[in-house]
Amino acid sequence: MHKVDVLLGLQWGDEGKGKIVDVLAPEYDVVARFQGGPNAGHSLEFSGIKHILHTIPSGIFHAGKINLVGNGVVIDPEIFKKEIDSLLSLGVNATGNLFISKKAHLILPSHRLLDAASEALKGNSKIGSTLKGIGPAYMDKTGRNGLRIGDIMLPDFNDRYNFLKEKHRTILKQYDFGDNPENYEEEWFRGIEKIREFQLVDSEYFINKLLAENKKILAEGAQGTLLDIDFGSYPYVTSSNTVCAGACTGLGIAPSKTGEVIGVFKAYCTRVGGGPFPTELTDETGDRLREQGKEFGSTTGRPRRCGWLDLPALKYSVMINGVTQLMITKADVLTGLDSIRICTAYKHEGKLTETLPFDMAGKVEPVYREFSGWKKDISSIKNCDDLPAEFKRYISYIEEETRVPVTMISLGPDRTAAVFPGKE
Ligand code: GDP
Ligand code: IMO
Ligand code: MG
Repeated sequence: MHKVDVLLGLQWGDEGKGKIVDVLAPEYDVVARFQGGPNAGHSLEFSGIKHILHTIPSGIFHAGKINLVGNGVVIDPEIFKKEIDSLLSLGVNATGNLFISKKAHLILPSHRLLDAASEALKGNSKIGSTLKGIGPAYMDKTGRNGLRIGDIMLPDFNDRYNFLKEKHRTILKQYDFGDNPENYEEEWFRGIEKIREFQLVDSEYFINKLLAENKKILAEGAQGTLLDIDFGSYPYVTSSNTVCAGACTGLGIAPSKTGEVIGVFKAYCTRVGGGPFPTELTDETGDRLREQGKEFGSTTGRPRRCGWLDLPALKYSVMINGVTQLMITKADVLTGLDSIRICTAYKHEGKLTETLPFDMAGKVEPVYREFSGWKKDISSIKNCDDLPAEFKRYISYIEEETRVPVTMISLGPDRTAAVFPGKE
């Protein structure tokens, strides 16, 4: 029997997970999202189409694949409806092959308002949330107050909605905050009607049945390991488990049924929002990475902070997730640089260390190793042998240090821009 392969980000999100899932989807029968919500923005490009998915799994453009939104995901009906409408405008009708867990939680308009109010109160120490209501929705889930997708079928759903909304209103009164949930309810309830058109399933049975039928399943992570609620740079994190273990709790698959763990990382680092970022470049090299890499948020449009690849952080993510394959994206963005740096250790309290300290904020200084850059345009290379020697050296070094093979090198945003070391 096949096992569930898990694909996730190893940095602070936006590693290119959507593109990689889209490339891998033909090899699978099922693509399943296991956590996060519309804070995610997963970009796909093919045949001249550029598309960004927030809630819907990145297998949706491949006909005949099952796409599942798992119980670990939080769904904003309004955003979900927009996603479905935008797929329709591209000729993709998702009703037949998109399934939604009855146990996935709902993001209410008042969750969004609570997110905004909480961030406003934090002032300079704000997290830089995407303001999609993610934190408050997960708080209601763990606080046992949440509304779930399955609840929309109950006759008293509106009463339950109003009860939770009023609870939120009491909390919002404590903030100096003018907006109110009613301003967003019309669209939100239209979104609820849209969700009713889909197949709402007991997703833990659904996915285990597919497994038993020997279907190949890919679990798609959102955000990245360094944004994980437990293992990320807390409190500058998101509110879910983005790590491999999150695929088990977010889908109802047993740990013994997970297979390959595919870790996606960028050839450099980016971060959007607040929080520590040891290798951040605030100089013209950072600006160059942002411009060349088009590093502006897929969900919020915010400029992403950019910096060099951070190996201690990458090794940490490999450890936490048990990564078995690495897939690197955006190395093409480094083309043209005379030299490229990789952070190999941190200086922390006067000592060299390769471990991430408990409190990183402002307290670690990166130690770099310098690599020669390459000038050759690598964006249309189709064969690993044609990659410049300097680039191969860069990849080998990462493989030696992480002890994990790089099995895909993405060289551009398009579906076709990738090479597969060891597979040619
Ligand atoms: P995700 O959230 O991990 O799916 O990543 P995003 O879609 O938010 O951000 C990745 C961005 O990089 C998107 O604009 C992709 O189209 C783009 N991208 C993905 N892989 C590559 C690559 O190998 N090279 C370049 N230049 N862009 C890429
Ligand atoms: P994908 O799936 C990058 C960041 C936010 C903020 C922090 C908390 O596209 O990789 P939240 O809205 O979750 O309360 O925000 O996490 N963040 C992301 N950064 N990519 C993402 O998703 C992100 N989702 C959340 O910028 O710093
Ligand atoms: Mg993204």
